[in-house]
Amino acid sequence: MKMLITGGAGFIGSNFIVCMRKWHPDHTLVCLDKLTYAGNLATLKPVMDEPGFKFIKADIADREAVYGVFEAEKPDVVVNFAAESHVDRSIENPSVFLETNVMGTQALLDACRKYGIQRYHQVSTDEVYGDLPLDRPELFFTEQTPLHTSSPYSASKASADLLCNAYHRTYGLPITISRCSNNYGPYQFPEKLIPLMIANALADKPLPVYGEGLNVRDWLYVEDHCAAIDLILQQGKIGQVYNIGGHNEMKNIDIVKMILSILGKPESLITYVTDRKGHDMRYAIDPTLIHSELGWLPVTKFEDGIRTTVQWYLDNRPWWERIICGEYQADNERMFTN
Ligand code: NAD
Ligand code: TYD
Repeated sequence: MKMLITGGAGFIGSNFIVCMRKWHPDHTLVCLDKLTYAGNLATLKPVMDEPGFKFIKADIADREAVYGVFEAEKPDVVVNFAAESHVDRSIENPSVFLETNVMGTQALLDACRKYGIQRYHQVSTDEVYGDLPLDRPELFFTEQTPLHTSSPYSASKASADLLCNAYHRTYGLPITISRCSNNYGPYQFPEKLIPLMIANALADKPLPVYGEGLNVRDWLYVEDHCAAIDLILQQGKIGQVYNIGGHNEMKNIDIVKMILSILGKPESLITYVTDRKGHDMRYAIDPTLIHSELGWLPVTKFEDGIRTTVQWYLDNRPWWERIICGEYQADNERMFTN
């Protein structure tokens, strides 16, 4: 089985690659990644020289390059993690989100049609459902919840999902889609809430909390997300959307306080800043389908996962310090040239 994993130099894709090496050592893995600001080859160091793993630098929106990769590698399965993934950046500059997340997905889908594929899996997000009010805790996102996006990021991800469904219905392409809640864990780029707060707290810098910090996210440890995708690839129904989430809703402010407490840092570092434009209030996944159909359940409790994550950032300072000082992009060039 040869699997093409796009966006594998990013947070979730790289964790997925490491998990797949462990869970399916017989698979051949090809990672295709553009190495944008979010891609980091240092993350893939442990697998880079292994037989059965190959890295290709390419842009999923570059149709010619994508076709070239399919022609040369003939993957059986494609898992598309490649995306512009940060909501704040999408508010500043939406265009690149449409190029990568929409046009890039379309180029991959067309390549799948042209060269044939056993499965195309689209890694999507619960953000396509918009948000839920804080005062209706009985409401959850199910696979039937209408798409109702808020940010350019979520609009681009929803568009990609619609394209996947259209290619399934129109051309019979064997697709699956997963919509996961917020992930956390090792190798997350320090622009996202949890790693940013850890890095700032360690540097005794202010921790910028948007608005009043009351927005709720449903947090899942990254390895649990990887296990869910692995299950969907093995047993998921073609054409199906699966929501992934672990019923772990937390207010932003509570997460920030928890990180400060684990690190023994004072709450006076918390700084309330101007709210994000169009800020979604609450995300909450109903994971009944993936549980009842595929038997998936998360195994990592948040209290354990957050401690493991904080410890990982303490133990791997060079990884994120190279990012913060900007040196990692030169590292990428060097590693890639080698
Ligand atoms: P990330 O930003 O950490 O990594 C994205 C990766 O994609 C990087 O390696 C980057 O270089 C690569 N990339 C970007 N544009 C590319 C292009 N045009 N061609 C090839 N590669 C490109 O993102 P992440 O947090 O690992 O998210 C991975 C996927 O999971 C995304 O599709 C995202 O929408 C989805 N998702 C993320 C979360 C989360 O909490 N992080 C939750 C649900 C779904
Ligand atoms: P983020 O990690 O960007 O993920 P998403 O926007 O995809 O949910 O943000 C998580 C939550 O944390 C979100 O409600 C915005 C908030 N947030 C802050 O309060 N301060 C910050 O500096 C960041 C990056 C996020």
